[in-house]
Amino acid sequence: MTTTILDGKRTAELTRNALLDTISQLTQSGHTPGLAVVLVGNDPASRVYVNSKVKACEQLGIYSQKWVLSAETTQTELLDLIHKLNEDPRIHGILVQSPPPSHIDETEVIRHIDPRKDVDGFHPVNVAKLVLDDPSGFVPCTPLGCMELLKTYGIPTVGKHAVVLGRSMIVGKPMASLLVGKESNATVTIAHSRTEGLEEVCRSADILVAAVGKPQLVKASFIKPGAVVIDVGINRVRDASSPRGYRLVGDVDFPNVQPLCSAITPVPGGVGPMTIAMLMSNTVKACRQISGC
Ligand code: GUN
Repeated sequence: MTTTILDGKRTAELTRNALLDTISQLTQSGHTPGLAVVLVGNDPASRVYVNSKVKACEQLGIYSQKWVLSAETTQTELLDLIHKLNEDPRIHGILVQSPPPSHIDETEVIRHIDPRKDVDGFHPVNVAKLVLDDPSGFVPCTPLGCMELLKTYGIPTVGKHAVVLGRSMIVGKPMASLLVGKESNATVTIAHSRTEGLEEVCRSADILVAAVGKPQLVKASFIKPGAVVIDVGINRVRDASSPRGYRLVGDVDFPNVQPLCSAITPVPGGVGPMTIAMLMSNTVKACRQISGC
């Protein structure tokens, strides 16, 4: 079977280019979109992600603030910053990089972000809007990026059986809501670590979204021939032959799964680049909604 490789790098570039006109119009009318990215602690992977988000803003002409707080920052100090950012007219989007250190109550922090600035789509108001099919809400960037890939490549979802492997608030649950929602109209199963007959459930999928953070869990035996596979996993595995000592693999055993699929995302270069592009898109949307432009 010829397999289409769903190119996230190229699709993210298309998404970014499509934002440029809107950003320049907003800027000309005195409403430059602005994003604040907050990192608590020193997790190296999180630092890389935060820097990539700031760099993406710079490339598009989006104003950004990067807040790197020490790992000892208290809950109160973090909430004070969130309140300040909620009131800052230059800022339309606020993102607190997840996961924070364990003494921080992330759920409470999210609830203190003004839902109009919650470009991560994690606030209960935005979770509800997603379930209610209310387009004024914000949808988490990773599942939004997966949907954009499906749309860009013209992959039909109506009436298809989509299996979402993973039930996180960041990916699995919002992904399932998007797929079952009125724009996509898929039939959706959410599978997870306690699902009985996981392999068989996955093998019934026309569209399989893997978002469990387990390197290469999805084997060829999980795949219905002709399925579309979206791999959200970004896992570091040891690799002595790589100069960094590790390489990135997804949740899917790509070399063995790819020949069976009609379409599949690579890792890296699939879903990853889409996430940041959708964050830029959500920031522009927040700016338009707040400024009324
Ligand atoms: N950590 C991993 N993915 C995300 C994301 O989409 N948003 C935030 N805030 N943290 C993350």
